[in-house]
Amino acid sequence: MISGAPASGKGTQCHLITSKYDLVHIAAGDLLRAEIASGSENGKKAKEYMEKGQLVPDEIVVMMVKDRLSQPDSAEKGWLLDGYPRSSSQATALQAYGFKPDLFILLDVPQEILVDRVVGRRLDPVTGRIYHLTYSPPETQEIAARLTQRFDDTEERVKLRLQTHNQNVESVLSLFEDITVKVDGSLSKEDVFAKIDNALSNLIEQNNAPLGMAAT
Ligand code: AP5
Repeated sequence: MISGAPASGKGTQCHLITSKYDLVHIAAGDLLRAEIASGSENGKKAKEYMEKGQLVPDEIVVMMVKDRLSQPDSAEKGWLLDGYPRSSSQATALQAYGFKPDLFILLDVPQEILVDRVVGRRLDPVTGRIYHLTYSPPETQEIAARLTQRFDDTEERVKLRLQTHNQNVESVLSLFEDITVKVDGSLSKEDVFAKIDNALSNLIEQNNAPLGMAAT
């Protein structure tokens, strides 16, 4: 699992982790945005909460994540859960369905950096890659011309998202203390990944099996 405040770098690190370890990346925020794009009733309801920077109710999020975790590729390759759980009730539901994480990666980034990261973030709708106008600019003019911005990536909304994060984070962290690796997320993305990579390699060595296949 990977956790951290809005724009702490979860999506960026998930891309690097899955490129190396071939895990199935399951991001609660991406599942919700896909539901919004589908025009479903759940999507419409979710958007109301996301626009206010609040947590989408469990009745929508929990089953969405559980269904994705239950697909065969997640069981075969192992999963990397991003942005879930965000409350103790979500963590309890995960446990009740029998999904147990090996590691809880916590990206620690000072709040003053986060707003700047959100406002400068851009997404490539073709490749799914995450860019930043200053820290990770697009490689070509062609990519630059097609970049999009998320509807909740404004200074006003990220402050609300941060408030929600701060209200809920402690209740989740306390549940995973024994498997938590805290990483300084203010370093360059390569340096952050080097630390995560190290923690994952140690885990594989300890378990003597690929990720997702450890004996329990
Ligand atoms: P979600 O989509 O999960 O958003 P978030 O948690 O706010 O996180 P972000 O996606 O904004 O950031 P990130 O940490 O992935 O950072 P990134 O790598 O992109 O959730 C959106 C909403 O959905 C929530 O507000 C809530 O309403 C709802 N929701 C989601 N999950 C839910 C749940 N479980 N329950 C209920 N509701 C839920 O990086 C950000 C920027 O920084 C990029 O531009 C990147 O290029 C740059 N960057 C990254 N790393 C570095 C670095 N090391 N140095 C410099 N720049 C960097």
